[in-house]
Amino acid sequence: MIKTIDITPNPKQLEFFKSKAKYTAYGGARGGGKSWAMRTKLVLLALNHPGINILLLRRTLGELRENHIIPLRKLLDGIATYKETVKEFCFSNSSRIKLGYLDNESDVLQYQGQAYEVIGMEEATQFTYFQFTCLTECNRYSGNMKTPFSPRMYFTCNPGGVGSDWVKRLFIDRAYRTGENPEDYYFIKSLVYDNVYLMENDPGYVKTLEALPEVRKRAMLYGDWNAFEGMFFPEFDEKIHVVTPCEIPASWLKFRSLDYGLDMTACLWLAVTPEGKIVVYREFYRSDLILSEAARQIVNLTPQNERIRYTVASPDLWNRRQDSGKSGADIMIQSGLTGLKKADSQRIPGWRVVREYLKAGGGGEGPLLNIFLTCSNLIRCLPLLIFDKDQPEDACDKPHEITHAPEALRYALMSRQPLITPAKKPPFSSIYSFDKPRITEDEEYRKFIYE
Ligand SMILES: Nc1ncnc2c1ncn2[C@@H]1O[C@H](COP(=O)(O)OP(=O)(O)OP(=O)(O)O)[C@@H](O)[C@H]1O
Ligand SMILES: [Mg+2]
Repeated sequence: MIKTIDITPNPKQLEFFKSKAKYTAYGGARGGGKSWAMRTKLVLLALNHPGINILLLRRTLGELRENHIIPLRKLLDGIATYKETVKEFCFSNSSRIKLGYLDNESDVLQYQGQAYEVIGMEEATQFTYFQFTCLTECNRYSGNMKTPFSPRMYFTCNPGGVGSDWVKRLFIDRAYRTGENPEDYYFIKSLVYDNVYLMENDPGYVKTLEALPEVRKRAMLYGDWNAFEGMFFPEFDEKIHVVTPCEIPASWLKFRSLDYGLDMTACLWLAVTPEGKIVVYREFYRSDLILSEAARQIVNLTPQNERIRYTVASPDLWNRRQDSGKSGADIMIQSGLTGLKKADSQRIPGWRVVREYLKAGGGGEGPLLNIFLTCSNLIRCLPLLIFDKDQPEDACDKPHEITHAPEALRYALMSRQPLITPAKKPPFSSIYSFDKPRITEDEEYRKFIYE
């Protein structure tokens, strides 16, 4: 008996089927038919390319079972045999679809040395960049196919998640690094409105998406990559906070904020307007710099006639090394970065202060924080920060790369006047006293000079 599979893809799904790019991502909002397209595409590849080796991954076993194993077993009944122990569908033409999940970061290493002509990553934003790059190494010719085939990877994704950064960079922002070929990356935007099947059979689902709170709706209904569930700063809006660079008056108070690490040096230059608003007007973001070199580059980037009142930096910079007895701050000061002072590095109170600055000011006064368009890393990283699952008011420190610029911003804003009046004081104010008297600018300045 010949079994046929009847499929009717919508136009976006068809575009996904036809893409031969090395990396094709199908993403955006909820319910557009992405998972359906992924598993159907993989089945079509298995049927049409004898001997092909395919790997389909999701983050957890539960998701894999619900989203793919169960529907695939139904679809492939009588067409392929399923072996539960190895989670594999074997076809009579010797094609193979292996299903897997990566609960932990290192689980990806089990695929090292293996070869798959096609790899599908479902909900790719749930995977880390490390996992993605490890998998690209397995995406190669396996030696079983009789006909030529160019290895490729398919991704489905919604905004948000630990891998939002790399998915957004490669497929939305298209900001490529050396060695990445822009032509390899193809993105198809998916919206629930594209899913005729769902629109007809479950119109209530669309209504549910339409009724979501604003930020979540922006992500889940419209596929806006600058808004997603779990984002730490939904208040951040490029349209409101990012401004075209302009001349900063010499009279405005200027200061710097530094988050130093060998993995990344992030430094921000900030100015205070006469009304007490803050403008981030310059940034420096560079990896692999030793302390003295980072200090020198920060000094070089500061014009000589620009008077910098102080530079706040993470307090651990003052830890002394046992061998030399010197601290990182000592080395930076010796390399010309003077005016260093310890930042108030309390995380939760600090994030609250950042949030206050991001909130648009009332009465059409605009936000209290503006960022020059040229500070691209701060602009990129702020919306990518997500909530820490175990510490409700804290930001997650992963992926680590995106945390440096926001941390520098936090140190910077914590060095300014508190914005929250005692009346609006949040419940945990004992951790950080918002109403403790602060010294004035000049006292502050004198303090670190004479300290
Ligand atoms: N072309 C199609 N033919 C038949 N059913 C389809 C088709 N496309 C999608 N569906 C069905 O629509 C529903 C939603 O699709 P699917 O789960 O693929 O969406 P999704 O974009 O992956 O959603 P989510 O964002 O929640 O992961 C599922 O029941 C799926 O089987
Ligand atoms: Mg899905």
